[in-house]
Amino acid sequence: MQKITIAIDGFSSTGKSTVAKRLARALGYVYVDSGAMYRAVTLYTMQNGFIEADCFDVEGLISQLENIHVSFIFNESLGFAEVYLNGENVEKDIRTLDVSQFVSQVATVSEVREQLVMQQKNFGKDKGVVMDGRDIGTVVFPEAELKLFMTASAEKRAQRRYDELLERGDDVSYEDVLKNVQTRDHIDSTREDSPLTMAEDAIKVDNSNMTLEEQFEFILNLSEEKIKALHKKKRH
Ligand code: CDP
Repeated sequence: MQKITIAIDGFSSTGKSTVAKRLARALGYVYVDSGAMYRAVTLYTMQNGFIEADCFDVEGLISQLENIHVSFIFNESLGFAEVYLNGENVEKDIRTLDVSQFVSQVATVSEVREQLVMQQKNFGKDKGVVMDGRDIGTVVFPEAELKLFMTASAEKRAQRRYDELLERGDDVSYEDVLKNVQTRDHIDSTREDSPLTMAEDAIKVDNSNMTLEEQFEFILNLSEEKIKALHKKKRH
């Protein structure tokens, strides 16, 4: 069966990765969490003292880019690929609120984007990929057969992320999580290079009032329709 490319973009904490992971599993596709790559570079930036509360040594980070290697290794028992930074599993470390506080600033750096986008395009070169992020339908795979743009109210999104962080045992407040979600939305949508914006041919999914199951079924149906349409086109 011919495979397609599925691009899922949208605001912070819209549940993109949850649905993308499940969709990839159902279709037998590869799932790539592009945000995890920006998070891994951010962790490196923090660990090496290039970013702090009021100071960001962009040149310092750029000078080290060739020493930053982000990769994914599939974890059989979890059923998805975990992120590695220079050979070390950082899956848990990159999901903290600390990393979330800096990631959008790091993601404004064009040199960082260029390196990660090249890697992302390569992951998708044989199709059969579900990738989520901010610029997947606009920059990474502008030719993707299915593009989704996920949105929900900031309060709903903050609540979901807050619950996730509490579940992990992180000590955070709802107010800080909400502030982070709003700040990231703003930086991501207004940056010069590859801002978060809905591709013209994307389908908007507001999941404020959708259960995970409803959202998954809706997106799986759309994917199957696209795959069938492609198949028909090939036969004619
Ligand atoms: O999961 P969450 O919605 O919190 O965000 P994420 O997908 O882990 O992405 C973290 C951050 O990386 C975003 O807020 C963006 O600043 C950046 N990002 C990006 O610029 N481009 C992408 N394709 C993916 C993420």
